[in-house]
Amino acid sequence: MKYRPFGKKMTWQSSALGFGAMRLPQNTPDPADIDEAEAVRMIRHSIDKGVNYIDTAYPYHAGRSEVVVGKALSDGYRQKVKLATKMPSWAIRSAADFDRYFDEQLKRLQTDTIDFYLLHGLNKDYWPNLRDLKVFQWAEKAMSGGRIGRLGFSFHDEFDLFKEIVDGYDNWTFCQIQYNYMDTEFQAGQKGLKYAAGKGLAVVVMEPLRGGGLAKQPPASVAQILKGAVHQRSQAEWALLWVWEHPEVSLALSGMSTMEQVEQNLTTANHSGHGSLTKDELVLIDRVKGAFQGLSPIPCTNCGYCQPCSSGVDIPRIFQFYNNGIMYGDLRAARFYYNSPVAMKPDQRADKCIECGECEEACPQKIPIAEWLKKVHTELGPRQ
Ligand SMILES: NC(=O)c1ccc[n+]([C@@H]2O[C@H](COP(=O)([O-])OP(=O)(O)OC[C@H]3O[C@@H](n4cnc5c(N)ncnc54)[C@H](OP(=O)(O)O)[C@@H]3O)[C@@H](O)[C@H]2O)c1
Ligand code: SF4
Ligand code: SF4
Repeated sequence: MKYRPFGKKMTWQSSALGFGAMRLPQNTPDPADIDEAEAVRMIRHSIDKGVNYIDTAYPYHAGRSEVVVGKALSDGYRQKVKLATKMPSWAIRSAADFDRYFDEQLKRLQTDTIDFYLLHGLNKDYWPNLRDLKVFQWAEKAMSGGRIGRLGFSFHDEFDLFKEIVDGYDNWTFCQIQYNYMDTEFQAGQKGLKYAAGKGLAVVVMEPLRGGGLAKQPPASVAQILKGAVHQRSQAEWALLWVWEHPEVSLALSGMSTMEQVEQNLTTANHSGHGSLTKDELVLIDRVKGAFQGLSPIPCTNCGYCQPCSSGVDIPRIFQFYNNGIMYGDLRAARFYYNSPVAMKPDQRADKCIECGECEEACPQKIPIAEWLKKVHTELGPRQ
Protein backbone atom coordinates (compact mmCIF):
# COMPACT_ATOMS: atom_id res chain seq x y z
CA MET A 1 0.00 0.00 0.00
CA LYS A 2 1.12 3.56 -0.69
CA TYR A 3 0.67 6.12 2.07
CA ARG A 4 0.15 9.86 1.68
CA PRO A 5 0.34 12.86 4.02
CA PHE A 6 -3.03 13.55 5.65
CA GLY A 7 -2.92 17.33 5.22
CA LYS A 8 -0.64 19.61 7.17
CA LYS A 9 -2.36 19.56 10.55
CA MET A 10 -1.33 15.99 11.38
CA THR A 11 1.81 13.96 10.85
CA TRP A 12 -0.25 10.79 10.32
CA GLN A 13 -0.26 9.28 6.83
CA SER A 14 -3.33 7.72 5.27
CA SER A 15 -3.41 4.81 2.87
CA ALA A 16 -3.96 6.02 -0.71
CA LEU A 17 -7.14 3.92 -0.81
CA GLY A 18 -9.82 4.18 1.85
CA PHE A 19 -12.82 1.87 2.22
CA GLY A 20 -16.15 3.64 1.68
CA ALA A 21 -18.89 1.64 3.39
CA MET A 22 -21.78 3.05 1.36
CA ARG A 23 -21.98 0.34 -1.29
CA LEU A 24 -21.47 -2.88 0.64
CA PRO A 25 -22.60 -6.17 -0.93
CA GLN A 26 -26.30 -6.87 -0.41
CA ASN A 27 -28.40 -10.05 -0.31
CA THR A 28 -31.43 -8.33 -1.87
CA PRO A 29 -32.16 -4.87 -3.35
CA ASP A 30 -33.13 -3.68 0.15
CA PRO A 31 -30.17 -1.46 1.18
CA ALA A 32 -30.49 -2.61 4.79
CA ASP A 33 -30.01 -6.23 3.74
CA ILE A 34 -26.20 -6.26 3.70
CA ASP A 35 -24.37 -9.52 3.03
CA GLU A 36 -22.64 -9.11 6.38
CA ALA A 37 -20.20 -12.02 6.17
CA GLU A 38 -18.92 -10.86 2.79
CA ALA A 39 -18.79 -7.18 3.82
CA VAL A 40 -16.78 -8.06 6.93
CA ARG A 41 -14.44 -10.22 4.86
CA MET A 42 -13.89 -7.40 2.34
CA ILE A 43 -13.27 -4.71 4.95
CA ARG A 44 -10.87 -6.91 6.91
CA HIS A 45 -9.04 -8.00 3.78
CA SER A 46 -8.48 -4.38 2.76
CA ILE A 47 -7.12 -3.63 6.24
CA ASP A 48 -4.83 -6.66 6.08
CA LYS A 49 -3.49 -5.22 2.82
CA GLY A 50 -2.75 -1.82 4.36
CA VAL A 51 -5.96 0.27 4.17
CA ASN A 52 -6.04 2.37 7.32
CA TYR A 53 -9.13 4.56 6.81
CA ILE A 54 -12.75 3.36 6.86
CA ASP A 55 -15.56 5.78 6.01
CA THR A 56 -19.20 5.31 6.92
CA ALA A 57 -22.13 7.54 7.86
CA TYR A 58 -25.36 7.51 9.87
CA PRO A 59 -27.73 6.92 6.91
CA TYR A 60 -25.72 4.50 4.74
CA HIS A 61 -27.55 1.25 4.03
CA ALA A 62 -30.55 2.58 5.97
CA GLY A 63 -28.48 2.78 9.14
CA ARG A 64 -26.90 -0.71 8.86
CA SER A 65 -23.52 0.34 7.47
CA GLU A 66 -22.28 1.62 10.83
CA VAL A 67 -23.42 -1.60 12.50
CA VAL A 68 -21.61 -3.80 9.97
CA VAL A 69 -18.48 -1.65 10.09
CA GLY A 70 -18.60 -2.04 13.88
CA LYS A 71 -18.65 -5.82 13.44
CA ALA A 72 -15.83 -5.74 10.87
CA LEU A 73 -13.69 -3.75 13.28
CA SER A 74 -14.10 -6.14 16.21
CA ASP A 75 -11.45 -8.82 16.90
CA GLY A 76 -8.64 -6.26 17.03
CA TYR A 77 -9.30 -4.53 13.69
CA ARG A 78 -10.47 -1.29 15.31
CA GLN A 79 -6.92 -0.56 16.52
CA LYS A 80 -5.51 -0.93 13.00
CA VAL A 81 -7.50 1.85 11.37
CA LYS A 82 -8.81 5.38 11.65
CA LEU A 83 -12.58 5.34 11.66
CA ALA A 84 -14.61 8.11 10.01
CA THR A 85 -18.34 8.64 10.31
CA LYS A 86 -20.68 11.58 9.87
CA MET A 87 -23.22 13.61 11.78
CA PRO A 88 -26.59 13.53 9.98
CA SER A 89 -26.65 17.31 9.47
CA TRP A 90 -30.20 17.34 8.05
CA ALA A 91 -31.63 15.72 11.19
CA ILE A 92 -30.23 18.21 13.69
CA ARG A 93 -32.98 20.37 15.21
CA SER A 94 -31.39 21.39 18.50
CA ALA A 95 -27.98 21.22 20.22
CA ALA A 96 -29.22 18.22 22.21
CA ASP A 97 -29.30 16.23 18.95
CA PHE A 98 -25.49 16.35 18.66
CA ASP A 99 -24.98 13.96 21.57
CA ARG A 100 -28.12 11.99 20.83
CA TYR A 101 -26.92 10.94 17.36
CA PHE A 102 -23.26 10.69 18.35
CA ASP A 103 -23.99 8.31 21.26
CA GLU A 104 -26.10 6.14 18.97
CA GLN A 105 -23.26 6.07 16.43
CA LEU A 106 -20.71 5.02 19.05
CA LYS A 107 -22.99 2.13 20.03
CA ARG A 108 -23.55 1.03 16.46
CA LEU A 109 -19.83 1.16 15.76
CA GLN A 110 -18.88 -0.58 19.05
CA THR A 111 -16.30 2.08 19.86
CA ASP A 112 -15.81 4.93 22.31
CA THR A 113 -14.05 7.26 19.92
CA ILE A 114 -14.50 8.40 16.32
CA ASP A 115 -11.13 9.34 14.86
CA PHE A 116 -12.54 11.50 12.09
CA TYR A 117 -16.01 12.97 12.55
CA LEU A 118 -17.59 14.80 9.63
CA LEU A 119 -20.52 17.16 9.42
CA HIS A 120 -22.28 15.36 6.59
CA GLY A 121 -23.11 17.09 3.31
CA LEU A 122 -22.86 20.72 4.45
CA ASN A 123 -24.89 22.99 2.18
CA LYS A 124 -26.47 26.42 2.39
CA ASP A 125 -29.17 25.15 4.77
CA TYR A 126 -27.27 22.77 7.09
CA TRP A 127 -24.14 24.90 7.45
CA PRO A 128 -25.76 27.99 9.09
CA ASN A 129 -28.05 25.78 11.18
CA LEU A 130 -25.18 23.75 12.68
CA ARG A 131 -22.99 26.82 13.13
CA ASP A 132 -25.79 28.72 14.92
CA LEU A 133 -26.47 25.73 17.17
CA LYS A 134 -22.79 26.01 18.20
CA VAL A 135 -21.64 22.73 16.72
CA PHE A 136 -17.99 23.78 17.10
CA GLN A 137 -18.37 24.33 20.83
CA TRP A 138 -19.86 20.84 21.11
CA ALA A 139 -17.19 19.26 18.88
CA GLU A 140 -14.31 20.89 20.74
CA LYS A 141 -15.61 19.52 24.01
CA ALA A 142 -15.88 16.08 22.43
CA MET A 143 -12.35 16.41 21.03
CA SER A 144 -10.86 17.44 24.35
CA GLY A 145 -12.70 14.53 26.03
CA GLY A 146 -11.32 12.10 23.43
CA ARG A 147 -14.69 11.10 21.98
CA ILE A 148 -13.75 12.68 18.66
CA GLY A 149 -10.24 12.75 17.20
CA ARG A 150 -10.52 15.36 14.44
CA LEU A 151 -13.35 17.34 12.86
CA GLY A 152 -14.10 17.69 9.15
CA PHE A 153 -17.01 18.03 6.76
CA SER A 154 -18.25 16.55 3.52
CA PHE A 155 -19.61 18.68 0.75
CA HIS A 156 -21.79 18.55 -2.39
CA ASP A 157 -22.63 22.23 -3.01
CA GLU A 158 -20.98 25.06 -4.96
CA PHE A 159 -17.39 26.35 -4.63
CA ASP A 160 -18.25 29.75 -3.05
CA LEU A 161 -20.00 28.04 -0.16
CA PHE A 162 -17.15 25.54 0.13
CA LYS A 163 -14.71 28.41 0.56
CA GLU A 164 -16.96 30.08 3.14
CA ILE A 165 -17.09 26.84 5.16
CA VAL A 166 -13.31 26.24 4.95
CA ASP A 167 -12.77 29.82 6.14
CA GLY A 168 -15.55 29.60 8.72
CA TYR A 169 -13.66 27.49 11.26
CA ASP A 170 -9.95 27.41 12.08
CA ASN A 171 -9.79 23.86 13.39
CA TRP A 172 -10.96 21.77 10.45
CA THR A 173 -8.45 18.98 9.90
CA PHE A 174 -10.00 17.60 6.72
CA CYS A 175 -12.80 17.75 4.23
CA GLN A 176 -14.38 15.28 1.84
CA ILE A 177 -15.25 16.27 -1.72
CA GLN A 178 -16.44 14.60 -4.91
CA TYR A 179 -13.55 14.57 -7.37
CA ASN A 180 -12.79 12.58 -10.50
CA TYR A 181 -11.65 13.34 -14.03
CA MET A 182 -15.18 14.36 -15.08
CA ASP A 183 -15.93 16.60 -12.09
CA THR A 184 -13.06 19.07 -12.04
CA GLU A 185 -15.43 22.04 -12.42
CA PHE A 186 -18.32 20.56 -10.46
CA GLN A 187 -19.18 21.32 -6.79
CA ALA A 188 -15.93 22.13 -4.91
CA GLY A 189 -13.97 20.87 -7.92
CA GLN A 190 -10.32 21.52 -8.64
CA LYS A 191 -10.55 25.03 -7.15
CA GLY A 192 -11.86 23.56 -3.91
CA LEU A 193 -9.21 20.85 -3.81
CA LYS A 194 -6.44 23.40 -4.14
CA TYR A 195 -8.04 25.87 -1.77
CA ALA A 196 -8.54 23.39 1.06
CA ALA A 197 -5.12 21.79 0.62
CA GLY A 198 -3.55 25.27 0.54
CA LYS A 199 -5.05 25.89 3.97
CA GLY A 200 -3.50 22.67 5.29
CA LEU A 201 -6.64 20.51 5.24
CA ALA A 202 -6.42 16.89 4.23
CA VAL A 203 -8.68 16.31 1.25
CA VAL A 204 -10.51 12.99 1.18
CA VAL A 205 -11.94 12.24 -2.25
CA MET A 206 -15.30 10.53 -2.61
CA GLU A 207 -16.83 9.22 -5.82
CA PRO A 208 -13.48 8.83 -7.63
CA LEU A 209 -15.31 6.55 -10.09
CA ARG A 210 -18.40 8.79 -10.15
CA GLY A 211 -20.22 6.21 -8.08
CA GLY A 212 -19.27 3.50 -10.59
CA GLY A 213 -20.27 5.44 -13.74
CA LEU A 214 -16.64 5.72 -14.87
CA ALA A 215 -15.99 2.02 -14.31
CA LYS A 216 -18.81 0.68 -16.45
CA GLN A 217 -18.57 -0.55 -20.06
CA PRO A 218 -17.83 2.78 -21.81
CA PRO A 219 -19.82 4.19 -24.73
CA ALA A 220 -18.33 3.48 -28.19
CA SER A 221 -16.64 6.90 -28.60
CA VAL A 222 -14.84 6.51 -25.26
CA ALA A 223 -13.93 2.87 -25.88
CA GLN A 224 -12.36 3.88 -29.19
CA ILE A 225 -10.03 6.38 -27.47
CA LEU A 226 -9.06 3.94 -24.74
CA LYS A 227 -8.25 1.30 -27.34
CA GLY A 228 -5.46 3.58 -28.56
CA ALA A 229 -3.65 3.60 -25.19
CA VAL A 230 -0.17 2.06 -25.24
CA HIS A 231 -0.76 0.50 -21.84
CA GLN A 232 -4.23 -1.05 -21.52
CA ARG A 233 -5.93 -0.44 -18.16
CA SER A 234 -9.38 -1.05 -16.75
CA GLN A 235 -11.80 1.90 -16.62
CA ALA A 236 -11.54 1.93 -12.81
CA GLU A 237 -7.74 1.97 -12.94
CA TRP A 238 -7.65 4.99 -15.27
CA ALA A 239 -10.01 6.94 -13.03
CA LEU A 240 -8.31 6.08 -9.73
CA LEU A 241 -4.79 6.72 -11.01
CA TRP A 242 -5.96 10.10 -12.29
CA VAL A 243 -7.19 11.07 -8.80
CA TRP A 244 -3.95 9.93 -7.16
CA GLU A 245 -1.93 12.02 -9.64
CA HIS A 246 -2.96 15.04 -7.55
CA PRO A 247 -0.59 15.63 -4.64
CA GLU A 248 -3.33 17.64 -2.85
CA VAL A 249 -5.43 14.47 -2.50
CA SER A 250 -4.79 12.57 0.74
CA LEU A 251 -6.85 9.51 -0.01
CA ALA A 252 -9.48 8.25 -2.39
CA LEU A 253 -12.45 6.42 -0.94
CA SER A 254 -14.00 3.82 -3.12
CA GLY A 255 -17.31 2.20 -2.23
CA MET A 256 -16.41 -1.31 -3.31
CA SER A 257 -19.23 -3.81 -3.59
CA THR A 258 -17.35 -7.03 -4.42
CA MET A 259 -14.12 -8.66 -3.30
CA GLU A 260 -12.91 -8.53 -6.88
CA GLN A 261 -13.23 -4.72 -6.85
CA VAL A 262 -11.37 -4.59 -3.55
CA GLU A 263 -8.53 -6.65 -5.03
CA GLN A 264 -8.37 -4.52 -8.17
CA ASN A 265 -8.38 -1.21 -6.34
CA LEU A 266 -5.74 -2.41 -3.87
CA THR A 267 -3.52 -3.38 -6.80
CA THR A 268 -4.10 0.00 -8.45
CA ALA A 269 -3.33 1.84 -5.20
CA ASN A 270 -0.04 -0.02 -4.94
CA HIS A 271 1.29 1.63 -8.08
CA SER A 272 -0.40 5.01 -7.60
CA GLY A 273 1.07 8.46 -7.09
CA HIS A 274 2.18 11.55 -8.93
CA GLY A 275 3.81 10.46 -12.20
CA SER A 276 2.17 7.06 -12.39
CA LEU A 277 0.39 8.22 -15.55
CA THR A 278 2.50 9.52 -18.44
CA LYS A 279 1.84 12.90 -20.09
CA ASP A 280 0.35 11.06 -23.07
CA GLU A 281 -1.97 9.13 -20.77
CA LEU A 282 -3.15 12.35 -19.13
CA VAL A 283 -3.92 13.76 -22.57
CA LEU A 284 -5.81 10.56 -23.35
CA ILE A 285 -7.95 11.02 -20.24
CA ASP A 286 -8.72 14.59 -21.36
CA ARG A 287 -9.91 13.16 -24.66
CA VAL A 288 -12.05 10.62 -22.83
CA LYS A 289 -13.57 13.46 -20.82
CA GLY A 290 -14.29 15.36 -24.05
CA ALA A 291 -15.93 12.28 -25.56
CA PHE A 292 -18.16 11.83 -22.51
CA GLN A 293 -19.08 15.53 -22.61
CA GLY A 294 -19.86 15.22 -26.31
CA LEU A 295 -22.63 12.80 -25.35
CA SER A 296 -24.47 15.48 -23.29
CA PRO A 297 -27.75 16.22 -25.02
CA ILE A 298 -28.18 19.71 -23.47
CA PRO A 299 -25.30 22.10 -24.25
CA CYS A 300 -25.47 23.71 -20.79
CA THR A 301 -22.12 24.99 -19.53
CA ASN A 302 -23.36 25.58 -15.96
CA CYS A 303 -22.61 29.32 -16.31
CA GLY A 304 -25.58 30.26 -14.10
CA TYR A 305 -26.68 33.27 -16.21
CA CYS A 306 -30.24 31.93 -16.19
CA GLN A 307 -30.37 32.07 -12.39
CA PRO A 308 -32.25 32.96 -10.33
CA CYS A 309 -35.45 31.89 -12.03
CA SER A 310 -38.41 33.84 -10.60
CA SER A 311 -40.21 30.52 -10.03
CA GLY A 312 -37.20 29.04 -8.24
CA VAL A 313 -36.32 26.39 -10.85
CA ASP A 314 -32.70 25.22 -10.50
CA ILE A 315 -32.07 25.01 -14.23
CA PRO A 316 -28.32 24.20 -14.29
CA ARG A 317 -28.62 21.46 -11.74
CA ILE A 318 -31.60 19.85 -13.46
CA PHE A 319 -29.70 19.86 -16.75
CA GLN A 320 -26.66 18.38 -15.03
CA PHE A 321 -28.63 15.45 -13.63
CA TYR A 322 -30.13 14.74 -17.04
CA ASN A 323 -26.89 15.13 -19.01
CA ASN A 324 -25.09 12.84 -16.57
CA GLY A 325 -27.87 10.27 -16.81
CA ILE A 326 -27.50 10.17 -20.60
CA MET A 327 -23.67 10.40 -20.67
CA TYR A 328 -23.13 7.51 -18.28
CA GLY A 329 -26.16 5.55 -19.45
CA ASP A 330 -27.65 5.72 -15.96
CA LEU A 331 -31.02 7.48 -15.94
CA ARG A 332 -31.88 5.56 -12.76
CA ALA A 333 -29.23 7.55 -10.88
CA ALA A 334 -30.45 10.80 -12.50
CA ARG A 335 -33.99 10.01 -11.32
CA PHE A 336 -32.72 9.28 -7.84
CA TYR A 337 -30.96 12.66 -7.56
CA TYR A 338 -33.80 14.59 -9.20
CA ASN A 339 -36.34 13.16 -6.75
CA SER A 340 -34.17 13.15 -3.64
CA PRO A 341 -35.09 16.11 -1.40
CA VAL A 342 -31.45 16.19 -0.21
CA ALA A 343 -30.11 16.79 -3.74
CA MET A 344 -32.99 18.97 -4.98
CA LYS A 345 -35.95 20.52 -3.21
CA PRO A 346 -39.32 19.74 -4.82
CA ASP A 347 -39.94 23.46 -5.50
CA GLN A 348 -36.70 23.68 -7.54
CA ARG A 349 -37.80 21.03 -10.02
CA ALA A 350 -38.69 21.55 -13.67
CA ASP A 351 -42.46 21.32 -13.20
CA LYS A 352 -42.39 24.69 -11.40
CA CYS A 353 -41.51 26.43 -14.69
CA ILE A 354 -44.25 28.86 -15.86
CA GLU A 355 -42.59 29.36 -19.26
CA CYS A 356 -42.01 33.10 -18.79
CA GLY A 357 -38.98 32.93 -21.13
CA GLU A 358 -36.66 35.17 -19.05
CA CYS A 359 -33.99 32.49 -18.67
CA GLU A 360 -33.86 31.86 -22.40
CA GLU A 361 -33.06 35.52 -23.06
CA ALA A 362 -30.18 35.29 -20.58
CA CYS A 363 -28.73 31.98 -21.80
CA PRO A 364 -25.55 32.50 -23.87
CA GLN A 365 -25.96 28.99 -25.36
CA LYS A 366 -29.46 29.86 -26.64
CA ILE A 367 -30.89 26.69 -25.13
CA PRO A 368 -34.69 26.27 -25.46
CA ILE A 369 -34.79 25.90 -21.68
CA ALA A 370 -38.54 25.63 -21.06
CA GLU A 371 -38.87 22.92 -23.70
CA TRP A 372 -35.99 20.91 -22.23
CA LEU A 373 -37.37 21.30 -18.72
CA LYS A 374 -40.64 19.70 -19.81
CA LYS A 375 -38.81 16.78 -21.41
CA VAL A 376 -36.53 16.28 -18.40
CA HIS A 377 -39.43 16.33 -15.96
CA THR A 378 -41.28 13.76 -18.05
CA GLU A 379 -38.23 11.47 -17.99
CA LEU A 380 -36.95 12.06 -14.46
CA GLY A 381 -40.00 13.22 -12.51
CA PRO A 382 -42.02 11.06 -10.14
CA ARG A 383 -43.61 8.10 -11.93
CA GLN A 384 -47.41 7.97 -11.96
N1 LIG B 1 -20.26 12.41 2.34
C1 LIG B 1 -21.00 12.24 1.32
O1 LIG B 1 -21.91 13.01 1.05
C2 LIG B 1 -20.71 11.05 0.45
C3 LIG B 1 -21.32 10.92 -0.80
C4 LIG B 1 -20.92 9.87 -1.59
C5 LIG B 1 -19.95 8.99 -1.12
N2 LIG B 1 -19.40 9.13 0.10
C6 LIG B 1 -18.38 8.18 0.62
O2 LIG B 1 -17.36 8.04 -0.33
C7 LIG B 1 -17.24 6.66 -0.67
C8 LIG B 1 -16.78 6.56 -2.10
O3 LIG B 1 -17.79 7.04 -2.99
P1 LIG B 1 -18.39 6.02 -4.00
O4 LIG B 1 -18.86 4.81 -3.28
O5 LIG B 1 -19.34 6.77 -4.85
O6 LIG B 1 -17.05 5.60 -4.82
P2 LIG B 1 -16.79 5.22 -6.32
O7 LIG B 1 -15.49 4.49 -6.29
O8 LIG B 1 -16.88 6.41 -7.19
O9 LIG B 1 -17.98 4.24 -6.73
C9 LIG B 1 -18.11 2.98 -6.16
C10 LIG B 1 -18.74 2.04 -7.17
O10 LIG B 1 -17.84 1.91 -8.27
C11 LIG B 1 -17.81 0.59 -8.72
N3 LIG B 1 -16.44 0.08 -8.57
C12 LIG B 1 -15.55 0.26 -7.55
N4 LIG B 1 -14.38 -0.33 -7.83
C13 LIG B 1 -14.51 -0.90 -9.06
C14 LIG B 1 -13.65 -1.67 -9.89
N5 LIG B 1 -12.41 -1.94 -9.54
N6 LIG B 1 -14.14 -2.10 -11.08
C15 LIG B 1 -15.41 -1.81 -11.47
N7 LIG B 1 -16.28 -1.10 -10.72
C16 LIG B 1 -15.82 -0.65 -9.52
C17 LIG B 1 -18.84 -0.18 -7.91
O11 LIG B 1 -20.08 -0.09 -8.61
P3 LIG B 1 -21.08 -1.34 -8.66
O12 LIG B 1 -21.48 -1.59 -7.25
O13 LIG B 1 -22.20 -0.82 -9.52
O14 LIG B 1 -20.31 -2.47 -9.25
C18 LIG B 1 -18.94 0.63 -6.65
O15 LIG B 1 -20.16 0.47 -6.00
C19 LIG B 1 -18.62 6.07 -0.37
O16 LIG B 1 -18.59 4.67 -0.27
C20 LIG B 1 -18.93 6.78 0.91
O17 LIG B 1 -18.22 6.16 1.97
C21 LIG B 1 -19.75 10.15 0.86
S1 SF4 C 1 -39.01 29.97 -18.37
FE1 SF4 C 1 -39.33 28.68 -16.61
S2 SF4 C 1 -37.29 28.19 -15.89
FE2 SF4 C 1 -37.12 29.96 -17.26
S3 SF4 C 1 -37.17 31.73 -15.88
FE3 SF4 C 1 -39.24 31.34 -16.60
S4 SF4 C 1 -40.16 30.03 -15.04
FE4 SF4 C 1 -37.94 29.99 -14.73
S1 SF4 D 1 -27.67 30.16 -18.86
FE1 SF4 D 1 -27.84 28.43 -20.27
S2 SF4 D 1 -25.80 27.50 -20.30
FE2 SF4 D 1 -25.88 28.88 -18.53
S3 SF4 D 1 -26.52 27.55 -16.82
FE3 SF4 D 1 -28.38 28.43 -17.65
S4 SF4 D 1 -29.09 26.92 -19.17
FE4 SF4 D 1 -26.96 26.44 -18.73
